[in-house]
Amino acid sequence: MPDSIGKKITTWQQSFGRNNLPWQQNITPYRVWVSEIMLQQTQVSTAIPYYNRFMHTFPTVDSLAKAHEATVIEHWAGLGYYQRARNLHKTSQIVHNEYQSIFPKTPESLIQLPGIGKSTAHAILSICHDAQYPILDGNVKRVLSRYYGIQEAVDKADTIKHLWHLASQAMPQQNCRIYTQGIMDLGATICHKKPQCPSCPLQDSCMAYQKNIQTQIPVKKPKNKKRKQDLYCLCYFHKGKLLMQQRDETGIWPKLWCPPIQKLLSSIENNHSVIRLPHYKHILTHIEMTIHPLIVLTRPENQLPTGKWLDEKQALTIGIPSAIKKLILNQSLFKIAKNHLSTRKTPVKAL
Ligand code: ADE
Ligand code: SF4
Repeated sequence: MPDSIGKKITTWQQSFGRNNLPWQQNITPYRVWVSEIMLQQTQVSTAIPYYNRFMHTFPTVDSLAKAHEATVIEHWAGLGYYQRARNLHKTSQIVHNEYQSIFPKTPESLIQLPGIGKSTAHAILSICHDAQYPILDGNVKRVLSRYYGIQEAVDKADTIKHLWHLASQAMPQQNCRIYTQGIMDLGATICHKKPQCPSCPLQDSCMAYQKNIQTQIPVKKPKNKKRKQDLYCLCYFHKGKLLMQQRDETGIWPKLWCPPIQKLLSSIENNHSVIRLPHYKHILTHIEMTIHPLIVLTRPENQLPTGKWLDEKQALTIGIPSAIKKLILNQSLFKIAKNHLSTRKTPVKAL
């Protein structure tokens, strides 16, 4: 009998998979859980430094539970999808308070925790306890839909149901941990956007490969158009420092630090002179933002917004969205502000 897909993937993982990732060392449910949440929408290479810093500050679920939410979010700044960080914090408190700091060992209880879906619960159980629970994340959907030649949209509810069934069938009885890691590794390193079929252990039984349709799968539903939004980013400077405010919990960039942002230009242009810097795009899941940075020239009689005045180094370490990091680094915001403001005649109001 030829090897099953499960056997092929576990054998392949042991020789060609990734075994040196930080969350594969000293495996605990806590460490695996944090990695799985981080990797939900973040590439491995981006996640690694964030993961190491997170583990350094919050080495245990108790240390995370005791932290302030703002500190947790600060460790997430730049990764996006900040709900993940808030859910991590909430879940750590539930595990601390209701589970004596020990992660539950059943999928049913894990799925109750904020931010943990079925696939993440199964990843934690199969990786930590070598338990026979299949995962179905984006990588796995791609591998399975190609392997079984599924040409329906993989983001449709009944296709997902079908894929879960195939994922259960593919999961071997033994070496569940290695299998789970293997199918993720295969999806990330071989069966990715440009599949490397000649190096793939599944090639001889892969339906998509046999029909030569591997690049047409996975099929996705047509995307909804992203909403477009113009945002005006008001950069106030005083003695070389930039005014930053902490955003509130709701809306984009919860709890991150940012110069004042507004949707309309008029109210600021009516009261102040501004220097317009080149606008740039920043794409989130549902919004295509065009950010218009403005250096606001204040006069002594102007009321200034409240916030913290930060130099460039402080601004880059305090926990800011990547869109603002781009402005500071790519557009050399501080340098440009310094050049403009040092040649001005009207003095800036002293604080
Ligand atoms: N993506 C999600 N989980 C992962 C893991 N454990 N290793 C690598 N990539 C992943
Ligand atoms: Fe993916 Fe190609 Fe392997 Fe099929 S043979 S699973 S398409 S890499």
